[in-house]
Amino acid sequence: MPLPAPRFGLGLRKPHYAEFLAGDVPVDFVEVISENFMVAGGRPRDILRQVRERHPVALHGVSLSVGSADGVDAEYLRRLRSLVDEIEPAFVSDHLCWTRFAGFQSHDLLPLPYTAATLAVVCAGVDATQNALGRQMLIENPSSYVSFAADEMSEWEFLREMVARTGCGLLLDVNNIYVSGQNHGFDPAAYLAAIPFEAVRQIHLAGHTSREIDGRGMLVDTHDQPVPDPVWRLFAEAIARAPHAWAMIERDDNIPALDALLAELDVARALAQTIDADQQVPA
Ligand SMILES: [Fe+2]
Repeated sequence: MPLPAPRFGLGLRKPHYAEFLAGDVPVDFVEVISENFMVAGGRPRDILRQVRERHPVALHGVSLSVGSADGVDAEYLRRLRSLVDEIEPAFVSDHLCWTRFAGFQSHDLLPLPYTAATLAVVCAGVDATQNALGRQMLIENPSSYVSFAADEMSEWEFLREMVARTGCGLLLDVNNIYVSGQNHGFDPAAYLAAIPFEAVRQIHLAGHTSREIDGRGMLVDTHDQPVPDPVWRLFAEAIARAPHAWAMIERDDNIPALDALLAELDVARALAQTIDADQQVPA
């Protein structure tokens, strides 16, 4: 799959629409939430079309529900395919989670038990999606706050197997690894050591918040803060191992001025440059 080049992007968010439409924002690509643009015609699709003339676009979904036991929704796939055909995105992604079952639709990305049975459901969902779109799908590792007594494998073992069986790619969210690691007590380094980095096409960077839940300190994946130091450290490890992955800052709440996000993106560029320089073999 020849693509790489663009490396550093931002999520396209409403407060910044005018700036993206007005001129040359110094990003290599933008990522958009697919569902915000899945209605053909109308203002949102028109905005995306205009942004697409200036920047490569990655589509990032939140409602595919690849873990639904009753399968992925054919109508959803039809509308996503229409968006893909028009925008010609660099990547199409969604999350390892479930959001829909028998008419129930959650706005939260709900966790899955990591069992052989769920793996079969997820792989069938990924296969159906890749067939419907006629292209590779990227699946993002989730942040989670509960785990299941029924778990038969770790999240990283689940991801490895999913990649091996379906040929999908990974969108690695290093903030989600950190958040889940703190909540469940695993070592993010062990997680990274087990990831099939050859499948990692995109990397997400984000911030989180510390909350007291049921008398327990938890991290919540709020995307409302700058990227904190431990997440930058994981990013440095991840980008060193997936040097062609496209990386971006995910900010969904408490959204600052565009310049503040561009300054954070410069940190990502600088870290990657340092690693690139370190990895050059002396003549
Ligand atoms: Fe993410």
